[in-house]
Amino acid sequence: MSAVIEVRDLVKTYGSSRVVDGMSFSIEEGEVFAFLGPNGAGKTTTIEILEGHRKRSSGEVSVLGFDPASGGRAMRDRFGIVLQSSGIDRELSVREVLDLYRSAYTRRRDVDELIELVGLDDKADDRVSTLSGGQQRRVDLALGLVGDPDLIFLDEPTTGFDPGARRRSWDLIDNLTSLGRTIVLTTHYLDEAEHLADRVAVLNEGRIVAVGTPDDLRNAASTDTKITFRLPVVDSPAGDFLEPLAGRVIGRSREIEVVTPSPTADLAHLTSWAVARGVELEGLTVSRGGLEDAYLDLLAQDNGEAES
Ligand SMILES: Nc1ncnc2c1ncn2[C@@H]1O[C@H](COP(=O)(O)OP(=O)(O)O)[C@@H](O)[C@H]1O
Ligand SMILES: [Mg+2]
Repeated sequence: MSAVIEVRDLVKTYGSSRVVDGMSFSIEEGEVFAFLGPNGAGKTTTIEILEGHRKRSSGEVSVLGFDPASGGRAMRDRFGIVLQSSGIDRELSVREVLDLYRSAYTRRRDVDELIELVGLDDKADDRVSTLSGGQQRRVDLALGLVGDPDLIFLDEPTTGFDPGARRRSWDLIDNLTSLGRTIVLTTHYLDEAEHLADRVAVLNEGRIVAVGTPDDLRNAASTDTKITFRLPVVDSPAGDFLEPLAGRVIGRSREIEVVTPSPTADLAHLTSWAVARGVELEGLTVSRGGLEDAYLDLLAQDNGEAES
């Protein structure tokens, strides 16, 4: 494997604010790399610097061996780009807009095949302006692929998609990776990152808070386990039930959630208490936090809000 993207000490300032504040990372050929982070974290700025759409203030950036600040046509010919908001002419039909963009590339994908790939077969001759938000986004996705690129940048590619369309675009992206394409994306959907990304970088205030596989991130975050159940209805107040727990108890009426560093002991206490009284802990589940929990925990740690 070789690095397709190398970034060292990247900084972008607007006036006195450093919106990208010293990032270093590399992305390997064939990898799907996802940037996560709250609004304003610097995801779009970073990705647009890599695309050559924004100038960096300082740092070193190499993309497919080019410096994107001066790469020009030869470089752009190998990129596929889906911007967070695109500026296409919405009075053209889906097919017309794809034909127009296609002519700008040396390598070209078949337009009808692309339209089918993004699931717009029955909309091919409709004006883009008449499509729903999610359908317009699928046009954007098709535009990103029309030059049969080696490297694909997708800034929030599935925002506004219905669940079926999201699944289809995941299949599409899986298909691109199986062809060896490298994909850099941003998303607010943690399940999307979990499904698609080989590695994830969590950004906060222009810095990389954590980078690694989704599993790495779960390991870096607090590893507390979540025990949930419905509070049994018993005659006596259940103080002796919840008070001895090592974990933090969060209760909404009868729905109880225990977030605990000692799941074995806490579970033993809860279940032996219930068994001794012959009551059922309805809806009992024990789970390790998912990527979303890890993400929120990493951000909280970075914001200095992490609890003991
Ligand atoms: N052209 C600009 N001028 C001034 N500030 C900007 C400009 N573009 C982005 N910013 C600021 O940079 C920060 C990062 O923005 P952005 O990269 O779009 O974040 P994200 O994509 O993670 O939501 C934000 O605080 C945003 O207001
Ligand atoms: Mg953005």
